[in-house]
Parts: sequence; structure tokens; C-alpha cells
Amino acid sequence: MKKIAILCSGGDVSSMNAVLKRFVDYSIAKGLIPYFVNNGYDGLIDNNIYKAGYSDVAGIISSGGTKIRSSRSKRFKDIGYRKQAISNLKDHCIDYVVVLGGDGSFRGMQEISNESESIVFGGIPSTIDNDIAGTNYCLGVDTALNGIKYAIDSIRDTASSLGRAFVVEIMGRESGYLTLVSALTSGAEMCLIPEIPHNLDAYKKRFKKEIKQGREYFIAIVSEALNNTQEVANWLEKEVNIESRVIILGHVQRGGNPTVYDRLMAFHFATHTIDTILKEHKSFVTCYNSRGFEHKKIEDVAFKKSTIKDELLKLAMEYGDSK
Ligand code: F6P
Repeated sequence: MKKIAILCSGGDVSSMNAVLKRFVDYSIAKGLIPYFVNNGYDGLIDNNIYKAGYSDVAGIISSGGTKIRSSRSKRFKDIGYRKQAISNLKDHCIDYVVVLGGDGSFRGMQEISNESESIVFGGIPSTIDNDIAGTNYCLGVDTALNGIKYAIDSIRDTASSLGRAFVVEIMGRESGYLTLVSALTSGAEMCLIPEIPHNLDAYKKRFKKEIKQGREYFIAIVSEALNNTQEVANWLEKEVNIESRVIILGHVQRGGNPTVYDRLMAFHFATHTIDTILKEHKSFVTCYNSRGFEHKKIEDVAFKKSTIKDELLKLAMEYGDSK
């Protein structure tokens, strides 16, 4: 019987556990022996590899994070440690490996897959940043967006009660995707993302006019990539003359009970990845686009820059022009 292993690499996302559950159930149904690698690529190096069964995934579908832990492995960049990882996989007679992670994890996957020859690797895009080229959707994004939505809705309650401005900083690394979608879906008055230049003078003019017309509070959603959250709050106080507070949502955006959408996507990503692994003899990344689920070469995913779709960017432009 062939053996298939799974690991999580990089920042965790909600619904990784849903993937683990489907991975074990579907692997067994397909006649494979499932294995877990604890602690991501570090676990491969340290031989933290063990056989998994139904009891390992019982009841985990509803929890965020990952039962098998994750790591941002520095050692994996070193070929000596990757050789150790390959030797551990071969000792366990592992034929296939599923990797949940972002583009950095897939670059590592490309290297180990070239070096290990016979082992086939399949990637599942998993990052709240939704910044992987070649796929419209990465696991964890919907849960993160829903968590942010709850947070901003609560912030609005206090902002409106006290007539204040709130500047909310959103994760996303270099991508403004999470920030933009959160701003649009929470009715924010201001949205600053790295993809679109912004004009503070135009914002000031508009905000002053709106205050005269009865607007009593503002919600500004700002991407962490811009590194100017406190500055924006200071600007609101000084130039718009409104008391302001900063909220850095931080790592709460990565956790929590996975949404129905993420659980379903986890199911599909895991199924498609195992089906492809059994058909293909080359490593790949599973992607989700308008055509549905498909697999792409690692180099077409991990080494390209992701962009926000034009239709969303058009809406961001309206913020850029300050409406
Ligand atoms: O890539 C996911 C992410 O949450 C980014 O949005 C954020 O910039 C980064 O990870 C934070 O990394 P860490 O968990 O190492 O602090």
C-alpha cells in the first residue's frame, strides 16, 4: 500500500484541521496509508512523522489552528537539512506528501521535490493573505474576513456612540486584499492599501464636507503593509479634528471556528489534491479559479506575484480618489 503524508507550513489558518480530517478519511478510502508530520518542515527534518488514523482527526473540524502544528522553518532553506528530511521520508517509505502553506512554503516544496525525485508533492494554498498567484482562493480567507467583520461591526458600535474615528489595521503582508474586502463589506469611509495610491488632502476635503452634512464618526481600514496606522489616526485628529483610536487586529484574524465556506473548500482542496497525486507523477499546487479546481506547476504559483482582481481594484480606486 502507498503511503501519503501531510504537513502544515507557515502561518496557520482556520480550516487546516478540516483538511486533516478529510485527508485521513479520503486517503483510507482510496487505499492509502495516511501519515502526519508534526511541526511543518522542521518536523520533516526532525523525523516527527507518524501514522495517522480516524481517532487523530475525531472532533477537530470545528477548531482553528492546526492539530499537527506548523513552523516557519529556517533550517529547511539549507540543502543539508532538506537531505535529512528526504532521508526521513524514505525511511518511512512515504510516496506522497501534501503541504498546506503559502508561496514561501511552496518554494521550499519545489526544492525538496526536485531533490527527492521519486516523492510526489501536492500543495494546498493556505493563507489568510489570499496572496498566492494562480489561485483565486486560499484556505482561511473566509474565516479571517468573517472575524474581521465581527470586529469592525463591534468597533462601529462604540465609534458611533462616542463620535470617534477608529483606524483598524488589517493583516495581509504585502497584499491589500483582506483590507479592501473588509473595508467594502463593513462600510468603511477610508481604505488604504499598497496597491492604490491615496490622497490625504482629498480625504480631508471629503471628511470635512461630510461632517458638515451630518457624519458623526469614521471607520478607516488600513493595510499593515503601509506601516502608517498611528500616523493616520494622528492625521484624523489634527486635520479632520476628530478624536481617534487605533485598533491593531493582529493574530485574532488567523484563528477561530472555521466558516462553512472554509470547511467546504477544505474538503474540496483535500479531495482534489489526493486525486491529482494518484493520477500525476509530478509535484503540483491545487488551485481554485473560475474553472473550478485545477492543478498547476509549482513554479507557476510560487514564483509569481499575485494581484488583486480588476473588478475589486476598481472599487478600491473609488477610495483612492476619495469618492
Ligand atoms: O501570512 C499570514 C500572516 O498572518 C500575515 O498576514 C502577517 O503579516 C504574518 O503572517 C504574521 O506573521 P507571524 O505570525 O510570524 O507574526
